[in-house]
Amino acid sequence: MVADLPVGFWSGWIVVLTCVSLATLAWVVLSVYFAPPDAKAEDAHEPVWDGDLREGASAPPLWWFWMLLGAMIFSLVYLMLYPGLGSFEGLLNWSQGKRLVSSYENYEQSFDARRAEIANLALAEVQADPVLMATADRIFRRECSACHGIDGRGQASLFPNLMDIDWQWGGSPDQIEQTLRNGRQANMPAWGPIIGEEKTRDVAEYLLDFSDREHAGRLVYEQSCAACHGAEGAGNVFLGAPNLADNIWLYGGDLDSILTTLQEGRAGNMPAFVENRLDATQLKLIVAKLAR
Ligand code: HEC
Ligand code: HEC
Repeated sequence: MVADLPVGFWSGWIVVLTCVSLATLAWVVLSVYFAPPDAKAEDAHEPVWDGDLREGASAPPLWWFWMLLGAMIFSLVYLMLYPGLGSFEGLLNWSQGKRLVSSYENYEQSFDARRAEIANLALAEVQADPVLMATADRIFRRECSACHGIDGRGQASLFPNLMDIDWQWGGSPDQIEQTLRNGRQANMPAWGPIIGEEKTRDVAEYLLDFSDREHAGRLVYEQSCAACHGAEGAGNVFLGAPNLADNIWLYGGDLDSILTTLQEGRAGNMPAFVENRLDATQLKLIVAKLAR
């Protein structure tokens, strides 16, 4: 709608309005301070009450005048330099849009150089730089802490601790980068319906003490579980099958939690953080933070 208006007309109208109001203001100020002498003569007709009580007409203090004059000169200079007088762009050719574009360009430029620098650093150098690691912490808090917790130590027996030595999908820089780029979908079948209640309980109890090879659950384990979790329970980073022989549990290590895991299965999903959420620099910083 605004775009349909005849720009020249409205612009001219605004120029006239602005000039007329400035001139009026100047006239009011001048007439207050420099009234012609005959106006002063009207004092003669000034009513007098109670013998000597007059309204008085002393002029306002002179410093007001200088202040108003200064403000008017400032307005004029401002209107000459900056946009404000209709569509006149001002002698400085300044505009909000240009200002935004140039500050964005400055930002990109100064940051591009830093990005190139970071891209050339070895991971250990990134890890040794406290400023970069502080940036990594901020990115982590923004993107990851909702699931993995502010300190990255996991939460709710659903989101893994990223600060321990136990990695489902591998803890090397490359493996962590893969996890972040493509996401991870774990798939642990529900065993209850497949092996029946008794064997489920046996194997769950066996997991409480993995080293007890005489346990009835050991046989079930070898038949149904070792393919993914490994004969020694060390897990498999290609399947995201966790280590079951250490004492670190994602979904809880008490008998009830393990039974729930076995009866219902588990399908943890780590979303992919492709380029639009983390650029290459941010990815590198996060990997540096997590890899050890
Ligand atoms: C929506 C929740 C969610 C967000 C957000 C999230 N993650 Fe995850 N992440 C998960 C889940 C769930 C898993 C476990 C997947 C599984 O069960 O295998 C996981 C697993 C991982 C793993 C693999 C751990 C291992 O032991 O191998 C890494 C590494 C990881 N996340 C890092 C991150 C980082 C870094 C961020 C932020 C950039 C992030 N995650 C954001 C839910 C999330
Ligand atoms: C097809 C491969 C596969 C087989 C076979 C398999 N698992 Fe798993 N298991 C997984 C995966 C993958 C996960 C991780 C699930 C997740 O992160 O959501 C998992 C997770 C678990 C967990 C949770 C560990 C934790 O830290 O909380 C337990 C317990 C477990 N499995 C026990 C078993 C037992 C017992 C068997 C045999 C009856 C078995 N699994 C067979 C792939 C397998």
